[in-house]
Amino acid sequence: MSEMAKVVLAAVLGAVEAVKPRLCPEPYHTSVRTGRMWMDELLAGHRRRMRRNMGMHKPVFRKLVRTLRAKTGIGDSKHVGLTEAVGLFLHMIVTNNTTEEEDEIFQRSPDTVHR
Ligand SMILES: *[C@@H]1O[C@H](CO)[C@@H](O)[C@H](O)[C@H]1NC(C)=O
Ligand SMILES: *[C@@H]1O[C@H](CO)[C@@H](O)[C@H](O)[C@H]1NC(C)=O
Repeated sequence: MSEMAKVVLAAVLGAVEAVKPRLCPEPYHTSVRTGRMWMDELLAGHRRRMRRNMGMHKPVFRKLVRTLRAKTGIGDSKHVGLTEAVGLFLHMIVTNNTTEEEDEIFQRSPDTVHR
């Protein structure tokens, strides 16, 4: 891995650690479910949607999550949580939304988010 990639990875890793608590709350928080649904939808949907919302193509996103997972030691059961955390982080960078605005988006149903 290049030095540049390591720096970027470290930055993303730090940011993901920061947003993860927001996405791994008590079970009654609906944001987990809808955030996951939105990420599932993006990962299954048209590649341009992923590119537009996350600033990168699906293979790059998957690789980033895989790499982060290897670095964080987060297990398979937490994979979706990490996918969401990375998604939230990237979406914030792409949109320049505040964390409060992101909370809104990740709590909304995927249908509402895309209208
Ligand atoms: C992002 O948002 C902040 C505050 O909402 C604003 O100050 C800043 O200029 C924005 N940056 C860009 C690149 O739009
Ligand atoms: C987040 O950013 C997107 C793209 O800039 C914008 O369309 C959307 O309204 C923002 N969300 C909120 C809740 O402000």
